[in-house]
Amino acid sequence: MLKNVKIILGLVALMALTSCKDSHFKEDKVFAGGVYATKESLNHGLSIYTEYCMACHGVTGEGNGVASKGLYPPPRNLTKGIYKFGNVVSGELPHDEDFKQILKKGLHGTAMLPWDLSDQQAHDVIQYIKTFAPQTWEGKDKKLGTKIVVTKDPYAEVHVDSAIQRGKEVYHTVAQCWTCHRAYATHAELSAFNQKINGEPLTDFDPEMYKIKAQPSEHGGPTIPSEFTWDSVRSAQTVEEIYVRLNAGVGGTSMPSWKGTLQDDEIWAVSYYVKSLMDLKGKHAERKKFVDAIKN
Ligand code: HEC
Ligand code: HEC
Repeated sequence: MLKNVKIILGLVALMALTSCKDSHFKEDKVFAGGVYATKESLNHGLSIYTEYCMACHGVTGEGNGVASKGLYPPPRNLTKGIYKFGNVVSGELPHDEDFKQILKKGLHGTAMLPWDLSDQQAHDVIQYIKTFAPQTWEGKDKKLGTKIVVTKDPYAEVHVDSAIQRGKEVYHTVAQCWTCHRAYATHAELSAFNQKINGEPLTDFDPEMYKIKAQPSEHGGPTIPSEFTWDSVRSAQTVEEIYVRLNAGVGGTSMPSWKGTLQDDEIWAVSYYVKSLMDLKGKHAERKKFVDAIKN
């Protein structure tokens, strides 16, 4: 698949480069957060976009480029100005460095690959993609989101087992992550958690709790919450990156920011727990044992 994508990318770039792109932007622009983009930067960004990005994100940025057919998740529609993976509370505007990180690392398990761009190229293409959503970006009074701060990890990598245990409890009780994702604990374990918190066993179990529930999104179609032992988590690999994602949420989807809803140490604990689930991905025998053990 990648080979085909590369061929198509090459063809589209060749077609587009034959038309002159040097003078498309005649004026500088000021974007949210007071970020200043010169016309040279925007014109250079346009040619980078044409060469590297247009095949998927499309000429008009709507995510409908020639190589976008059948991709899941589909390429982002950049005209909406709604982004999933900023390191800011979902709904707020990401910083240039958030976009830079996405370009550099890619989004795991999607067609959005890591791009080998220089800092200047990345900067310029980031300014250019903002021009697809002027309603969101243009104007110096528009504010960027508050950056998620990584607090001191209370489990500090040494109390990993207790973090995972605590995270499993938080995931299945106060946070109820399973209402969209799925449960990974047995009825007996869920009942024991309830006994501990509410002083009584649980007898009534939602028959849907072991299923992933598709969610509506603002990105032009439903989105599927991750099954952490099976799917690629797109924006996070490490405990710290998961911590950032839980604090931020996922923009334009029902995945909320947990900042302020859960306590900080609970968010750290859940991050360790989610990481322990992610570590089962690709390990077929181990995963099967795990899945069999949570069948009731
Ligand atoms: C082969 C197809 C493909 C190409 C080429 C591509 N992208 Fe993407 N891009 C995607 C897909 C698919 C997603 C959505 C991933 C998701 O929803 O998890 C995405 C998402 C994005 C996002 C949204 C990030 C967010 O937080 O919501 C941005 C911004 C972006 N791409 C910019 C670019 C830029 C800039 C380039 C060129 C340097 C580029 N893309 C090239 C497929 C592509
Ligand atoms: C109301 C529904 C809902 C709840 C509750 C929910 N999530 Fe999500 N979550 C989603 C959706 C939808 C996505 C997929 C977003 C996308 O990529 O399109 C998601 C994605 C994620 C991701 C992956 C982000 C990435 O980079 O791919 C992680 C990690 C995650 N959720 C963890 C959690 C944890 C932990 C909890 C509980 C503390 C939780 N979620 C509760 C809906 C939910």
